[in-house]
Amino acid sequence: MLWIAAAFILSLRMPGANPEGALSVLMEPDGTGTWRMLIAQFEKENPDIPIQMVEGPPATNAREDLYAASFLSGKAGFDIVYCDVVWTAKFAAAGWLRDLTDRLSRQDLNDFLPQELEAGSYKGRVYRIPAFTDAGMLYYRKDLVESPPVTFDDLERQARQLQNGNRWGFLWQGKQYEGLTTVFLEILWGFGGEWIDAKTKQVYLDSREAVKALEFLKKTIGTISPPAVTSYIEEDTRTLFQAGRAVFLRNWPYVWTLVRESPVKDKVAFVPMVHAPEESSAATLGGWGFAVSETSSRVEDAWKFVKFITGTEQMKVMYERMGRIPSRRSLVPAEFVPIIEKARMRPAIPEYAQASDILQRWVSAALTGRPGCEEALKKAAEETRALLGHAK
Ligand code: GLC
Repeated sequence: MLWIAAAFILSLRMPGANPEGALSVLMEPDGTGTWRMLIAQFEKENPDIPIQMVEGPPATNAREDLYAASFLSGKAGFDIVYCDVVWTAKFAAAGWLRDLTDRLSRQDLNDFLPQELEAGSYKGRVYRIPAFTDAGMLYYRKDLVESPPVTFDDLERQARQLQNGNRWGFLWQGKQYEGLTTVFLEILWGFGGEWIDAKTKQVYLDSREAVKALEFLKKTIGTISPPAVTSYIEEDTRTLFQAGRAVFLRNWPYVWTLVRESPVKDKVAFVPMVHAPEESSAATLGGWGFAVSETSSRVEDAWKFVKFITGTEQMKVMYERMGRIPSRRSLVPAEFVPIIEKARMRPAIPEYAQASDILQRWVSAALTGRPGCEEALKKAAEETRALLGHAK
């Protein structure tokens, strides 16, 4: 990973790679061209502030590593940070982000979704301005499913009944990366379990509920989910589902817009994630925003861009073209409100990336290899306690 990071940062210094005077930002792959379009609009309105968008790898944790390596290098790297909800605490605690609290208008403070504002804050100060929100949900083929599943058992049963030689029952994101943490949490919470209490730093991974959650996921592999599910990220599962190759899909809201331009366009609906009978459904809160890097020498210009890209009109475009749910209350489409409302934040602690890495490693080990679910979670709990300095 380190050599990739180094090569990446070096590439920014190559002649022609960073147009003179341009502000740089590391983004996701711009599959729909929407980011380029919005940036072009900004540059038209602000010809003296060109933006250099670098398209990084699709996995959030891979881009987080690139940002971290850039900040740690001590050189002026990116001016603007395209920032996941789970990066704020670490980046703010490390002093990598500008405090933007006093720049927010009262109107913005009232309009942004409270959970997204909170996810952009650290110790009461705002560092990341929300652009769009995310929450995990369950898509299904309404032409095949009579009544959408509510419990884990319903999902398993219906998936078995409706899968055939051409389509699998259930697709989810099983690669060892941040997406696996988000999926595992929805199952864990759906069984009534917990991961880490952000306030007390108590760790609950060696619980019965956690074992049930991991066993549920493991049992799907090769039965209702393809064996390769342990190597899939969001886009792998979306493309398969859109091609009619599965009955159920766990993914984020963006799929809703894209699926309606696909061969299964009139055959898809969604519900909140399934759960254990006595529990309720849970979604992992996701979402992205923009922050100004502490190392930028062009704070005012960078802020101009952040303000623009998180504006109402830009959010409408992000929704229409990319299916990203606007982070402003006034713009959230009604059908997503029940799912967004249930979304729960991953622990907002500076050690988040390491804690999630431990979870990903052990969950992935149990899914793909030998350690039993109970043993893997016991190890994950021990390592997490050591990380957080909390002996139970
Ligand atoms: C989505 C979410 C983000 C999450 C990621 C995991 O991009 O918005 O919060 O960390 O998926 O893959």
